[in-house]
Amino acid sequence: MIKLNISNSTVTELKSEHDYIAKYLDNIYQRGQGFYNVVDDKKMVDDVLKFAKKMEGKFKDIVVLGIGGSALGTICLQQSLKHLYENELENRKWPRLHVLDNIDPLFIKQLEDIISPDKTLFITISKSGDTPETLAQYFYFRSVVEKKGLNVKDHFVFITDAEKGFLREISQNEDIPSFEIPENIGGRFSVLTPVGLLPAALIGIDIKELLSGAAQMRELFYSDSVEHNLPFQIATIQYLLSFEGKIMTVLIPYSQKLIRFADWYRQLLAESIGKAKDDHGNTVNIGLTPINALGVTDQHSQNQLYNEGPNDKFFIFIRVNDFGCDMKIPVTHPENKSVNYLKGVSFEKLMHTEQEGTLQALTQNERPNITLEIDRVDEKTIGGMFMLFECATAFLGEFFNINAFDQPGVELSKKITKKLLT
Ligand code: PA5
Repeated sequence: MIKLNISNSTVTELKSEHDYIAKYLDNIYQRGQGFYNVVDDKKMVDDVLKFAKKMEGKFKDIVVLGIGGSALGTICLQQSLKHLYENELENRKWPRLHVLDNIDPLFIKQLEDIISPDKTLFITISKSGDTPETLAQYFYFRSVVEKKGLNVKDHFVFITDAEKGFLREISQNEDIPSFEIPENIGGRFSVLTPVGLLPAALIGIDIKELLSGAAQMRELFYSDSVEHNLPFQIATIQYLLSFEGKIMTVLIPYSQKLIRFADWYRQLLAESIGKAKDDHGNTVNIGLTPINALGVTDQHSQNQLYNEGPNDKFFIFIRVNDFGCDMKIPVTHPENKSVNYLKGVSFEKLMHTEQEGTLQALTQNERPNITLEIDRVDEKTIGGMFMLFECATAFLGEFFNINAFDQPGVELSKKITKKLLT
């Protein structure tokens, strides 16, 4: 269950302000993007599961080489759906997963220190197949594998465009196993393609459940009724508030498992909506700045600013009803009345109460906020939330009249880096 807690009067307001949902849906369809259709691709799921089955028991470590949209979804999947200390567990059933989304040489070297190449599968992920950071990592670990006299084909799998790019060329020439990222799905919208699904399946995440949660959310996205269309509701609130100066969106999950979800969303919102030109070529320099925060941790780092600083932010809270682990706070100082308020309270209750307190304080200070409520963090809800925010971002693009699916700014810096190196 994913529920948006906003009042009926807000929905009515949304309707009267912004009742062109069918038109916006149509505009999104016309852009020919595939992120919402991927949940129907049974062959892709079968291929991923077949490969994962074949790999079972072969590797101790899985290393994802990729960056941006080729990494953030996987990091989120691991953090939200596996044990928080999964890689440290002694009796793990599944390989350890490491996502190398930076080229800091120390990050690479110290990962190398803890893996052994003969027991490692390297998943090289790049939609373009040409991203310098990812290629540099690939070259590095390929040479490590080769130096050990291992067969590259047994230790590498590529996830890339079906036809274009360097990785596709190498995979074809050398028969390295590979998966395709559909042409019409960009990096940051690709978590429900093999980009996220393959690493997930390799560490025992139920990818069919992920997709089924996403498919359920897609039904809401297809709805032309404002009352049902959750992505439309979120996007509309964000859009309307931007005209009241709320040009930043703070996503605050009250769940340790969901902080990487906020990282994933940060890229999605930043790269999709931050654009210089609108659809007609006018210079607009549009953008909503995403901020990720974690409840309760960041109550003690950002909350002061949020309550009393510039009133330029919109807050999306995520409340998890059931953490799957409700522990009572023990009473160790019964004689001390000053700490009595914690007596008999569970950590779950404390978390929920602090969330409520933070939310009420923001509301009192007239800081707009909504709460997304989920029953628990599981495959179905995570799949649903990916789809929810992808669809909301697509709506936002239409509201602002911009292309939410390109990233000329990212491409430009890639181009300049290459030039500087040659
Ligand atoms: O969303 C995007 O397209 C980008 O952020 C990419 O994910 C990122 O630049 C990595 O690109 P690629 O997957 O082509 O290596």
